[in-house]
Amino acid sequence: MKKIVIASILIAGSLFADSSFFGSKKDVAPATDELYLKECGSCHFAYQPGLLPSRSWVKVMDGLDNHFGTDASLDAKDSKSILKYLVDNSAEKFTNYKRSKKINDSVAAAETPIAITKTRYFIQKHRELSAKHIEQKEVKSLANCMACHTKADKGSYNEREINIPNFGKWEDD
Ligand code: HEC
Ligand code: HEC
Repeated sequence: MKKIVIASILIAGSLFADSSFFGSKKDVAPATDELYLKECGSCHFAYQPGLLPSRSWVKVMDGLDNHFGTDASLDAKDSKSILKYLVDNSAEKFTNYKRSKKINDSVAAAETPIAITKTRYFIQKHRELSAKHIEQKEVKSLANCMACHTKADKGSYNEREINIPNFGKWEDD
């Protein structure tokens, strides 16, 4: 009996997690932790934990005092709690989400990128964009996911939802 219950929980969990059961397979699990959203979503988009492997998050959280040219340090308690959230929800733990799997697979075991924009998968997916798309004031940086991916905050990066400021929909050819 116990086994059956556990098995059904696992099956229900995986159906729910990748959402294919409801007709829309999610790209990455949305970020939900309130402390994370507050502390790591104040200067930029709160990147979903499933966009980087856990060792990357460890390195990001280890270097907050010198974080991409700014000081993003937190007190020890908040830092520990956010690190746990990031590691527990990192890319290699959520390979049933297709982008998490692809990002994780694209990072070599010897690498520990501290930016999503430095992963092989990301670079390959954005290689057709040029300076005119990125350097305009509405975008500024490829790290500004929400500028183009209109549902990035929902964990959805579908091509059809892309809207590049001043250029519009992305026509892939
Ligand atoms: C004081 C402002 C500030 C805070 C707070 C902050 N960041 Fe950042 N973060 C930055 C800047 C600036 C960049 C570089 C953005 C760019 O390249 O356009 C950045 C970039 C990043 C990137 C790389 C994005 C990419 O793929 O290029 C990650 C990952 C990141 N931050 C995680 C975090 C996490 C986790 C926290 C919370 C612990 C956090 N940040 C809090 C300023 C901040
Ligand atoms: C300047 C606009 C722009 C920004 C900023 C941007 N992207 Fe993209 N992204 C695109 C375009 C264009 C594509 C290519 C779609 C295609 O041809 O498959 C893409 C593709 C993707 C894909 C693959 C989608 C698919 O259907 O294959 C993912 C995942 C993704 N981006 C994530 C991100 C994340 C995460 C960020 C922020 C760290 C980001 N993007 C920032 C424009 C952007």
